[in-house]
Amino acid sequence: MFERMQAVEEDITALAVDAIVNAANMSLLGGGGVDGAIHKAAGPQLLTECRTLQGCETGDAKITKGYNLPAKYVIHAVGPVWRGGKNNERQKLESCYRRCLEISCEHQVKSIAFPCISTGIYGFPKEQAAEIALKTVRECLEKMPEIERVVFCCFSGEDRTRYRALLRE
Ligand code: AR6
Repeated sequence: MFERMQAVEEDITALAVDAIVNAANMSLLGGGGVDGAIHKAAGPQLLTECRTLQGCETGDAKITKGYNLPAKYVIHAVGPVWRGGKNNERQKLESCYRRCLEISCEHQVKSIAFPCISTGIYGFPKEQAAEIALKTVRECLEKMPEIERVVFCCFSGEDRTRYRALLRE
């Protein structure tokens, strides 16, 4: 179980996994942060495909091809905007991680990398978000033996340290 999950400090666009997850917004038409980096690295065909998807609800996700990325697919997840914690932020973040893994199973994705969804522009407290990410993924992996590897792709040493500490618990 635990050996199927790892935390790295990397630019997610460089990872050679079957699918990388994008921390997108409801329009699915691009933005800043990791979303901007993914669209830039994948090339303009990604936006063309995203335009056909008609957006996505918060807590849900949609899959596209990866185009110029090393990853075969991008799974675009829409995390919650942090509004103090009493607006179902936890449930919506859990749902993002769960939906990405369900979609992975539907597309024979065996390795997947997640960024720290909602913890940048959307302001979700990082420690709480990391706990939710690990707990949700752990629970899903118990039911999804076909998923071989989940990478938590951190963009700072601080985040990687946090994930590694939680992974050891
Ligand atoms: N690789 C891995 N992680 C990254 C990268 C990268 N290249 N770039 C940033 N991060 P954010 P959100 C980390 O703000 O909070 C966009 O405009 C970053 O350090 O990208 O879910 C969308 O269109 C942080 O830990 O996403 C939405 O409008 C994490 O990725 C909105 O931002 C998420 O930060 C979504 O906000």
